[in-house]
Amino acid sequence: MLRSLLIYLSKAGWARGLVTNWGFAWRAASRFISGESLSEAIEAVSSLNARGINATLDHLGEHTTSQETALKAKDEILRILQIISEDGVRANVSVKLTQIGLAVDEGLCARNLAEILEVAKTNSNFVRIDMEDSPWVDRTLAVYQSMRDGFQLDNVGIVIQSYLYRSESDIQNLMSSSARIRLCKGAYDEPAEVAYPEKERVDKNFDHLTRLLVDGALNNGSPRISHDGRIPPIPAIASHDPERLVFAKNYARSAGLPDDAIEFQMLFGIRRDLQEQLVAEGYPVRVYVPYGTEWYPYYVRRLAERPANLWFFISNFFRG
Ligand code: FDA
Repeated sequence: MLRSLLIYLSKAGWARGLVTNWGFAWRAASRFISGESLSEAIEAVSSLNARGINATLDHLGEHTTSQETALKAKDEILRILQIISEDGVRANVSVKLTQIGLAVDEGLCARNLAEILEVAKTNSNFVRIDMEDSPWVDRTLAVYQSMRDGFQLDNVGIVIQSYLYRSESDIQNLMSSSARIRLCKGAYDEPAEVAYPEKERVDKNFDHLTRLLVDGALNNGSPRISHDGRIPPIPAIASHDPERLVFAKNYARSAGLPDDAIEFQMLFGIRRDLQEQLVAEGYPVRVYVPYGTEWYPYYVRRLAERPANLWFFISNFFRG
């Protein structure tokens, strides 16, 4: 109920206008966002790298409604790729397709993504396509596939959400072309027609899909993470849930997958202790580092995931 309300608020223009004008809101949000500028984000990446952690950079923004904004978003992503290359940090890039024009025109979005992937390829880098809410899943997968089949670009990965019923079949299809897949639970409010409403089922499916990804990696020659930390292995387990992480580690070890042929991913500002524990155990870890001024929907989804974050937000409000 509270989760649904927050996900609704994450999309409501009136709430965005209200909240982003409160100074204290940015103070609360900045726990999860590395800064408003790319230089602040690169600083955050450098300090993660110093702790043995790789990063994926996300310039915040989604649901772009004009060609002009989509092109600007694409240009900013090209700038990220250039700065990563110049600074030599261990990072790749994550992108939401609705930010680069999927809601405006699928062709525009595909052209923008192809340009991003070409530049990433020249820089030996990799781009992960985030997964948005269920009405976008088919179109997101279609654009992903068109990069691989039409544009012959393979430095691209995709995200699968364990709350969706369809995800097992999506993974089976994607594995035939050794797709690099980030597995997460799913951050949106989905109807029971498309997604498991019960958390236990989402968790159980997460473990099941982890098994498929590990098996898929083994069947595809167990590609390892690249030496510079930019090109990820096939399975990327994106969760802060200790039980999911233990399951993934145990299953991967028992199946014989090398430790550097799987990676673990977490969000900036969440469970730093677990990130460090995994690094100490010898696993590749990647932190998702968002930055930019369009932080409102991303932040409100983080509130929806954990009610305690909401109380922190409210207490900041009273402190003024
Ligand atoms: P769960 O929600 O069960 O939380 C387990 C524990 O993690 C909690 O008990 C708490 O300790 C900690 N935790 C989780 N969320 C927290 C929060 N917001 N604040 C503080 N602590 C928190 N989703 C999506 O739909 N599309 C996508 O492309 C992505 N991409 C993505 C990338 C990466 C690197 C990560 C880690 C996650 C995503 N997600 C995502 C978000 C994902 O779907 C999910 O909403 C969150 O990761 C929370 O789920 P957990 O697996 O952590 O489990």
